[in-house]
Amino acid sequence: MSLASCKITDQEFLKFRKLVYEEFGINLTEKKKLLVVNRLQKVLRDKNLGSFTQYYDYIKRDNTNKSLSELINKISTNHTFFYRENTHFEVLRKDLLPKITLDLSNKLSKDLRIWCAGCSSGEESSTLMMIIKDVLGVDYNLWKAGLLATDICEEVLEFAKNGHYETKRIKELPVDLRNKYTEITTKVMSKIKNDVLSEITYRKFNLMHDFPFKKKFHVIFCRNVMIYFDQKTRKNLVNKFLDYLMDDGLLFIGHSESLSDVDDLIAISPSMYKKRGK
Ligand SMILES: C[S@@+](CC[C@H](N)C(=O)[O-])C[C@H]1O[C@@H](n2cnc3c(N)ncnc32)[C@H](O)[C@@H]1O
Repeated sequence: MSLASCKITDQEFLKFRKLVYEEFGINLTEKKKLLVVNRLQKVLRDKNLGSFTQYYDYIKRDNTNKSLSELINKISTNHTFFYRENTHFEVLRKDLLPKITLDLSNKLSKDLRIWCAGCSSGEESSTLMMIIKDVLGVDYNLWKAGLLATDICEEVLEFAKNGHYETKRIKELPVDLRNKYTEITTKVMSKIKNDVLSEITYRKFNLMHDFPFKKKFHVIFCRNVMIYFDQKTRKNLVNKFLDYLMDDGLLFIGHSESLSDVDDLIAISPSMYKKRGK
């Protein structure tokens, strides 16, 4: 068989499906088979591997985790865009974040902790950082208020750290945020300004792993990530988020997702939840 036309057998697909589920929580349904094959063909060609079995064995033999990273870089769906599901950003900016920061100030705290989990190429995280800066205004430097942004996929994290986007994509942002926090660099490209980028800590992190954080968060964004997980994985992950949310802390998920069976979360709108205070 020529390398260019390598097919995946049902048995091979099941092996990859199990591997991706166990390592990353991603549920590769039968419908994704063609997509997976298309995305992985090039890896097989580049590595001169003649079958998906050879590729699977290659990953299993590699104890550096490099080939697993390469696999997830190919398999994960990183689709995102600026100001996606914009009501979240608007409510956060106009209502929720001013309330949280006032409440913290009343308690003499200047420690605001926000996590963007599954940030992809940075459109969501850079917008969040703009909003944090905007809400805190001239007092920003008095706060410890950076943003943690994580993803499993190294390629998108590198892109996010660079902060360069086509200007037409940045146009989705409200004009005041765009004018204040982005700059045009070429005829077609713009950049997130350094005073925003430098406040975001981008890290590779697999949400299936134990959370390594010492402190809890006031706000967690995990939008359009859990759609790739099954019910059991989603439930485990939401329970971990709950463990790392402050009382009354906020969890934002994607508009098409819902969490109906979690007692400790109160829905404040269909995809915005508040952790029940003690
Ligand atoms: C569709 S993007 C969503 C991006 C952004 N949150 C949004 O709503 O536009 C989903 C992201 O989740 C990440 N992801 C998937 N499984 C993950 C895991 N186990 N740990 C961390 N990130 C994961 C993917 O790499 C991808 O960048």
